[in-house]
Amino acid sequence: MCGIVGYVGGRAALPLIMGGLARLEYRGYDSAGVAIQSPGGELVTAKKAGVLDNLRTAIGDGADLAGSTGMGHTRWATHGGPTDRNAHPHADGSGRLAVIHNGIIENFAALRTELESAGVEPVSDTDTEVVAHLLGAAFAAGPTAGDLTASMQAVCRRLHGTFTLVALHADRPGEIVAARRSSPLVLGVGDGEMFLASDVSAFLEYTRDAVELGQDQVVTLTADSYLVTDFLGNPLQGKHFHVDWEIAEAERGGYPTFMDKEIAEQPEALANTLRGHFDGRHILLDEQRMSDDDLRTIDKVFVVACGSAYHSGLVAKYAIEHWARLPVEVELASEFRYRDPILDRATLVVAVSQSGETMDTLEALRHARRQKATVLAVCNTNGAQIPRESDAVLYTHAGPEIGVASTKAFLAQVAANYLLGLALAQARGTKYPSEIAADFDQLAQIPDAVRATLAGMDPVRRLGQDLATAPAVLFLGRHVGYPVALEGALKLKELAYMHAEGFAAGELKHGPIALVEDGLPMVIVMPSAKSHPMLHRKMLSNIREVQSRGARTIVIAEEGDDTVAPFADTLIDVPIVPPLLQPLVATVPLQILAAEIARARGYDIDKPRNLAKSVTVE
Ligand code: F6R
Repeated sequence: MCGIVGYVGGRAALPLIMGGLARLEYRGYDSAGVAIQSPGGELVTAKKAGVLDNLRTAIGDGADLAGSTGMGHTRWATHGGPTDRNAHPHADGSGRLAVIHNGIIENFAALRTELESAGVEPVSDTDTEVVAHLLGAAFAAGPTAGDLTASMQAVCRRLHGTFTLVALHADRPGEIVAARRSSPLVLGVGDGEMFLASDVSAFLEYTRDAVELGQDQVVTLTADSYLVTDFLGNPLQGKHFHVDWEIAEAERGGYPTFMDKEIAEQPEALANTLRGHFDGRHILLDEQRMSDDDLRTIDKVFVVACGSAYHSGLVAKYAIEHWARLPVEVELASEFRYRDPILDRATLVVAVSQSGETMDTLEALRHARRQKATVLAVCNTNGAQIPRESDAVLYTHAGPEIGVASTKAFLAQVAANYLLGLALAQARGTKYPSEIAADFDQLAQIPDAVRATLAGMDPVRRLGQDLATAPAVLFLGRHVGYPVALEGALKLKELAYMHAEGFAAGELKHGPIALVEDGLPMVIVMPSAKSHPMLHRKMLSNIREVQSRGARTIVIAEEGDDTVAPFADTLIDVPIVPPLLQPLVATVPLQILAAEIARARGYDIDKPRNLAKSVTVE
């Protein structure tokens, strides 16, 4: 959360920074702000609570913000409410130094008390302002006086927590100093200009030459140079890389929202995730850095993740246990390390994360590595912190996901988890090679099945309009349909701000059935009649139970399932696929349903309230 942009070069900084912030707004939209070094040697700032447009309006023609060195911030609030006062940049007492920040300074309360006893009167409730005062003091006097880089190093040594910090000082024209611990920061190297950003999309228009900054590093930028050091001031080598993402990939491509675009991109995201992972005989996990021998030593799997990624793990449990005959536990990352799980060298911990930045997942994997478990990241973001700190990585190739609600990244996570399941089965010999080939072949047909599903979604869109005024929606599933039900409910909660719950259908009679009343919409994910006849029969009974109590039944069932039609007020067909792969098609209508209900209720689908795309705090 929080997006950061910096620029130093020969051009007017403001438009470049505002453009970068627009691309990073998905990281947080509680407030936005900029600081520019003016040609007159002052630091000029502007900041505004709310979305970036509010700042744009406040800035007007930007005449006050002329200058070619500056920085910008888009905020997801942690310490201090989303107000003008708490918006970044934050200044020190002199007003000549400004700081922006992404992350949380965990020892900020102690530092604030120390500053207050020294006579400082903070003007905001943020942890960031504390850094501004510390940095201002280090720059003003003492061993680091007049040296912004050394001041930053000294201050960082005192900070606990996670942070990306960027600072400008009016007395250091044409210089930007930044630091990072855990929170993301990349440097873009242009011709006579330098960029800094939380991710490359902010400067891709201007340069594809990038430098990745590591943990606990400080970088000092001028228009023609950059110097990377550690927090002690020792020089370090930055890691260069070339960005080959097309900028158009990160834009809406004609769809009304990023989420609509990303839903439509799912067949491609799945095909890209599967591509290159089967050579006709073997499952290949070439980015995985684990051999078959390594995989054979595994005797237990934990999947740790949050939100939708966690739901992808619940699906993985069914597939991996069935295919590879390995016990799989699926844990919310935020609970995992506090529970003291039993881990050892033979444990594989799979950390699933779209962003690769989720702090709960990152901390869970750190805990697992400390306990000597092997950690495999399933991640969508190249070079992000989670894959960097893992022993091995299996990338999903869904492309950048901008809509806050995960769609294509979720399906790609499910597909990558299946690949892992097949790789484990292959290594452990729990499946014949011919079975692995057949399973991969079925997976490879899924992108077409998702395409077919997407083509038939008009009835779901109409249903979305219809359900816009419902007070709540319940979701029921069994087997792999259960995580699908949870995912459908999560999408509806986060997008439409509607009460929604997913249940294992068997649990209905243990409590949730008490919620059923006349007209309550209930979405039921039907197991396959052919492959799971027993579960199918049980689910039919569940539908009868809720229908007889007045529920409005919306049933997702495979094409040709005639037995369910009499019990469905609305029947939504999805293509027939192997039962374990059903989540890849059955989730799609639920994504569209949530988006349509949210649209009908007038909400911003790409930016649901209170949420951020990357959750980099615990
Ligand atoms: C829901 C959603 C979130 C994320 C969760 C984990 O639509 O997007 O629940 O799935 O915050 O994020 P990543 O995958 O980036 O670790």
